[in-house]
Amino acid sequence: MTDDWKIETLAIQGGYKPGNGEPRVLPIAQSTTFKYDTVEEAAALFDLEAFGHMYSRISNPTVEAFEAKIAALEGGVGAMAAASGQAATTMAILNICGSGQHFVASSTIYGGTFNLFTHTLKKLGVEVTFVDPKASIDELRKAFRPETRLVFGESLSNPGTDVLDFDKFSTLAKEFDVPFMVDNTFPSPYLCQPFKLGADVVIHSATKYIDGHATSVGGVIIDSGKFNWNNGKYPELTDPDPSYHGLSYTETFGEMAYIVKCRTQLLRDFGACMSPMNAFMCHNGLETLHVRMDRHCENSLKLAEWLESNPYVSWVKYPMLKNDENYELCKKYLKGGSGVLTFGVKGGREPGAKFMNSLELAAIVVHVSDLRTSVLHPASMTHRQLNDEEQKACGVTPDLVRVSVGLENIDDIIADFDQALKKAQI
Ligand SMILES: Cc1ncc(COP(=O)(O)O)c(C=O)c1O
Repeated sequence: MTDDWKIETLAIQGGYKPGNGEPRVLPIAQSTTFKYDTVEEAAALFDLEAFGHMYSRISNPTVEAFEAKIAALEGGVGAMAAASGQAATTMAILNICGSGQHFVASSTIYGGTFNLFTHTLKKLGVEVTFVDPKASIDELRKAFRPETRLVFGESLSNPGTDVLDFDKFSTLAKEFDVPFMVDNTFPSPYLCQPFKLGADVVIHSATKYIDGHATSVGGVIIDSGKFNWNNGKYPELTDPDPSYHGLSYTETFGEMAYIVKCRTQLLRDFGACMSPMNAFMCHNGLETLHVRMDRHCENSLKLAEWLESNPYVSWVKYPMLKNDENYELCKKYLKGGSGVLTFGVKGGREPGAKFMNSLELAAIVVHVSDLRTSVLHPASMTHRQLNDEEQKACGVTPDLVRVSVGLENIDDIIADFDQALKKAQI
C-alpha cells in the first residue's frame, strides 16, 4: 500500500514507523553509540554482514528515519544524510571520482559549490569542466573526456533560478555512460522529481526547504539505484575494497552499492555526519513540505508579478512568469517556481543596497528557503569569492537582489517592498 501513497502522504507517514507502544513522534536518539550483547554481533556490523547502528558517525536511528523519509519522497533506494549540503556534494562526487578523473558541471550553480569544484576538488586532483547549460548538445559533448565520471547540475539554480534541461543532460549522461547528479535543493522533491527525469543521484542542502524553518544545517544524498556501475569505469564500486576485507559493493549490495559505499567509506573516513537533533528537525520539516511549498510558490508568483509592474524595478526573473526565459522548462519539469526570485533595482548597486537597508519585514540574511522573507545581494555576499567572469557564469550581476519569499501574508510582503523601493529612489 505504501508504494501507492502520494507525495503528501509520504511526507507525513514516510520515514519513522512507530511500533506498538512506541512514541508517536520520532524520538531523538542522542547517543553516540549502541549496545550489543556479544562480540560476534558487533563484529558482524564491522564486516558489513549485518545492518545495525554501532556509532553515530556512521548511522543513528533518528538520522536513519530522516534518510528513509527523503528517500521515499525522491523515489530512491536509499539515502545518506550529511552535516551540510556542501558535505553531501563533496561526498557524492568523491564516492565515484578521484585523483586524475574529471566531471562536467553546469556553470549556473550555487557559489559555494562552484568554489568547491574549482579550488578544493582541484587540490585533490579532481578536475571539473563548467558548461553553459543553455549551449547546444553538440557543444556540451565537447566537455566530456574518457576520464569523465559524472555530470552535475542544479534542477533550479541558485541564485539565477534557471531550470535545468533534464532531457539534454540525461541524454549526455547516457551517451557517455556516466551518472547524472542533480542538486534538487531549490524545488525540493515536492516540486521536482529528478529520478523520473533521468537523474541517477540527487543531493540536497537540507538546510533549505527540507528543514524549512532555518534551524538546522544539513545535507543528504539519495541514490536512485538505477545506474549500472559495472561498465568498467567504477572499480571502486565493483572491485574488492581492501578496507572491508575485499568486499565488492556491487556484488554484495546490488542497487544499493553507491549509497552503502558512500556511508561505509566516506562518512566513516570524513566524519561529516548529520546530528540526531538536526535529523529530527529535518524529518519534522519534511512533514509540512507540500503545504509550505505550495504557499512559497503562490506568494513568489504574486510578488514577481507585482515587481514586474513596479516603476523602480528594471527586471524580474522568476521561472513561472510567462515571459521568463525558463517558463517553458519550468512548466515541463517542475510543479511550481519555488520560493526564490531575483530582480534589479533601477539604478543598480547603490539604490539596490538602499532598498535592502530600508526593508522592515524582510531581513538581510545569508540564507534562502525558509518561512521568513529574506533578501541577499549575491555579488557582495554568497558569490563574493568569485571573480567577475565566474560571477557572470553563475548568473550573478552587480544589481541582482535575491529574494527568498516567505510564508507571511503576501499583502504585507508587498507593502514592505513598496515602501523600501520608494526610499531607494530618494
Ligand atoms: C543549491 C545549493 N546547494 C548546496 C548548498 C550548500 O548547502 P549548505 O549551506 O547546507 O552546505 C546551497 C547553499 O546555499 C545551495 O543553495
